[in-house]
Amino acid sequence: MNEITVLDREFSVYITEDEIQSRITALAEKINEDMNGKDVLFFGVLNGVFLFAADIFRQINFECQVSFIKLASYDGSSSTGKIKELIGWNEDITDKTVVVLEDIVDTGTTLERVIAELKLRKAADIKICTLLFKPEAYTKDIPIDYIGFEIPNNFVVGYGLDYYGYGRNLRAIYKLTK
Ligand code: XMP
Ligand code: MG
Repeated sequence: MNEITVLDREFSVYITEDEIQSRITALAEKINEDMNGKDVLFFGVLNGVFLFAADIFRQINFECQVSFIKLASYDGSSSTGKIKELIGWNEDITDKTVVVLEDIVDTGTTLERVIAELKLRKAADIKICTLLFKPEAYTKDIPIDYIGFEIPNNFVVGYGLDYYGYGRNLRAIYKLTK
């Protein structure tokens, strides 16, 4: 399945299932080293992160918690830059080390909003872990601690990422072909 169609668009395979999984194992090993002994809450930003969060969380080997928020800034295939939804801030994060889990950091607008909220709620320390990062699109100064793959500014789907809500169940990550 190298070429696929999602709705009206064609995509070709970009990061394979094996590549995704071995990178996640490496990220988890690093987080296990860095965070052991801390009171860590993994904090996933839905919807796109659900598969990445599940896969990385199962490889964390110290006592920790996980929670999710829903916060979307994306409409179809181009970033609108507007936050549309914000659901689920019901966790006490005071004095915890929060590791924000993102599927993809694009302009960084979503991330900035999440970080601002975590600071208001007095997290002791905030780390950021994203599967995908688009450095050319990034407009913020917030450093990203754990990055799975740096990718060019192309639209991608699969492994949780969607095109108008479709394509999240694909096991690999696909990029839009012209
Ligand atoms: P910002 O611009 O706030 O965007 O960093 C982050 C959110 O936008 C979505 N996003 C994408 N979704 N393919 C997708 O399916 C992409 O190439 C893409 N780029 C950004 C995503 O929901 C992310 O949390
Ligand atoms: Mg999306």
